[in-house]
Amino acid sequence: PPATQRSALPGVFPQLPAGFRFGTSTAAYQIEGAADEDGRGPSIWDTFCAQEGRIVDGSSGAVACDHYHRYVEDVALLRRLGAPAYRLSMSWPRIQPTGSGAVNPKGLDFYDRLLDCLLEAGVQPTVTLYHWDLPQALEDDGGWLNRATVDRFADFASLVGERYADRVEHWIPVNEPNVVMMLGYGDGEHAPGRRLMFDALPVAHHLLLAHGRAAIALRAAGATSVGCANNHAPMWPASDDAADVGATKLFDALWNGMYVEPMLLGRYPVDLAPLMEDLVAEGDLATIRQPLDFYGINYYNPLRVAAAGEEAELPFEFRELLGYPTTERGWPIVPDALREYLITMRARYRAALPPIVITESGCSYATGPDEHGVIDDQARIDYLDAHLRAVATAIQRGVDVRGFYTWSLLDNFEWAQGLTQRYGLVHVDFETLARTPKRSFQWYADMLAAQPQHA
Ligand code: BG6
Repeated sequence: PPATQRSALPGVFPQLPAGFRFGTSTAAYQIEGAADEDGRGPSIWDTFCAQEGRIVDGSSGAVACDHYHRYVEDVALLRRLGAPAYRLSMSWPRIQPTGSGAVNPKGLDFYDRLLDCLLEAGVQPTVTLYHWDLPQALEDDGGWLNRATVDRFADFASLVGERYADRVEHWIPVNEPNVVMMLGYGDGEHAPGRRLMFDALPVAHHLLLAHGRAAIALRAAGATSVGCANNHAPMWPASDDAADVGATKLFDALWNGMYVEPMLLGRYPVDLAPLMEDLVAEGDLATIRQPLDFYGINYYNPLRVAAAGEEAELPFEFRELLGYPTTERGWPIVPDALREYLITMRARYRAALPPIVITESGCSYATGPDEHGVIDDQARIDYLDAHLRAVATAIQRGVDVRGFYTWSLLDNFEWAQGLTQRYGLVHVDFETLARTPKRSFQWYADMLAAQPQHA
């Protein structure tokens, strides 16, 4: 059967090269809760969640997994899992409540305790500085549409770097700038909920500058490994009709090329360069193109793109990808597309491409406890098995992939999806906040133990 339908065989694990870095991934707003506690300032997600109709189930990250109070228990789960790496994000408004000026000592203390606890458990932290929780005060001044936000972010990167560089293995300035631009400011599905369509383009340029400036600030503070976490989706045209192929090319440039090309090559994709011209000041592209120690890819699924009709607001639209199973999020499961994408990245960017790390990959299934309390999420095991094999094959074909962080350690607050989508290796009961490792947790632990570096 094709890889997408194959079921992981018990005891037969994908094999990744010695030294390959396995981990899990989370983000502050999605797990911490304690939104009003210990001096944390409001973020755009607090504001957004309070607006009627924004989150499918009306929930918010006010409590989420209550990780702020339960991090010791969560780190114990990480120790039990045995993965050497863990990707977390630090909440900007917890550390700097209005996004500039005064810092919140209790926020800094929290991350001190969390990092120390991780290191004591033998888990190396990878830290994302911006996983979407912009301080509300900065949004009130224009948010990522305002170039001054880049200066605020560079200051934040310095202060965080100076405090924690001694304990953080890898740094990621910005998680998925494309999602922030398109969903946050383009179509309004995410905070801050602006619907600016193509007028959101300045957000992309400012987030790229934020990436570059933060990379510089982090290195100045002693960081030894700085990368990125860009969401990449392979783009497949809905037909070989020239209009569909053209729309696909445009959306590919907007979603993928817009970020990877400035970061690695110091230029915008040719089709988009004219749109960006007025935004680019002298020296900007050199600032964005910083040496990267790894290129992080968040991979979920390919998209099938078609040309939209004349009256449509945007020139492209999306079609269902037929013939593949989907997760409960409705996203098609296509591990072969990950393998091919990795091979294509290598061919396209060659020497400009640093080692790749899969900074997120995972799937949503609501599987809960059966009558014995067992959470039998075989579908997640199959997903992870197939995607790890795809990575292993890409490595055999010459792509330098160094790590894989699954999204996510815990079921959590999934943005506009609220608490309705579950990606965790660990089940969270959002009434009692009890954590229960799923079967996929044990599978991941067994798979790790079977890797060559453990032999
Ligand atoms: C990624 C984000 O794009 O997708 C994660 O970096 C997010 O933060 C994940 O949780 C799943 O997306 P969603 O929309 O199902 O929450």
